[in-house]
Amino acid sequence: MIILDGKALSLKIKEEIRQEVETMRKAGERPPHLAAVLVGNNPASEAYVGNKVRFCEEVGFASTLIRKDASLQEEELIGLVRSLNEDPHVDGFIVQLPLPGHIHEEKVTLAIDPRKDVDGFHPLNFGRMAQGLSAYLPATPYGILLMLERYGIQTRGQHVVVLGRSNIVGTPMSLLLSRKGEPGDATVTLTHSRTRHLSDETRRADIIIAAIGIPQFLKGDMVKEGAVVIDVGINRIEAPERKSGFRLVGDVDYDTVAPKCQAITPVPGGVGPMTVTALMMNTLKARRKEISY
Ligand code: GUN
Repeated sequence: MIILDGKALSLKIKEEIRQEVETMRKAGERPPHLAAVLVGNNPASEAYVGNKVRFCEEVGFASTLIRKDASLQEEELIGLVRSLNEDPHVDGFIVQLPLPGHIHEEKVTLAIDPRKDVDGFHPLNFGRMAQGLSAYLPATPYGILLMLERYGIQTRGQHVVVLGRSNIVGTPMSLLLSRKGEPGDATVTLTHSRTRHLSDETRRADIIIAAIGIPQFLKGDMVKEGAVVIDVGINRIEAPERKSGFRLVGDVDYDTVAPKCQAITPVPGGVGPMTVTALMMNTLKARRKEISY
């Protein structure tokens, strides 16, 4: 059984990005610049944005963190998005989700210039991705593709079962793995809360992508021998034996699933670090204007 070490792979790719930035600087070019907007003080969002800013510093990107109070009005946020769209020194930016309840996330996403949408959340990028045109890919699916690629896990002709149909993971992942090319060319089944006989579906899978948001949902008896399992979940569960009182688990019951697997991602240290890496790859592409519209 191989443990797909997202932390180690992320460090490797980080070093590759750092070298590319150094080459840019030596050639007298401005380094890539990522801006992040954080509204309110959701602890998980604080941690994610903190990781993104730290990653920028480590590879030599410029970064700007714009913090706003949770009482920020929707029009003000859209005004801020428009100013970032216009700012020639910002190559790409993200508005960290979730936003406070009084702000419509889709209105904010639609206001982002698709050429700077390094999260790949704008419908133009999503549509282009679905049609196989150049586009910013959403960070988590892109991170998973990088991981499959770098570990040499073939997807062509394989049966992939995706658990969960969210706009940012399940749905784009199913599109990306079913499209032409490598990684891709898979036969994909997208499952969700209304799927009947889910275990019958997962037991047929050569590759399972678990992004259902339920702690330790996928059990050993739902997986065939030799499957590859990618766990996208990050859930806090109580752990009285720990000083913090909690621990992080994925959507996969690791102890019963791992012994049956050809390869599996751990939580933490699997998909999570790859997501941040993918965002940085998108920012590098934004700086180089690699995505043509
Ligand atoms: N919230 C959870 N994941 C993400 C992400 O990838 N991007 C943004 N902007 N917000 C998130």
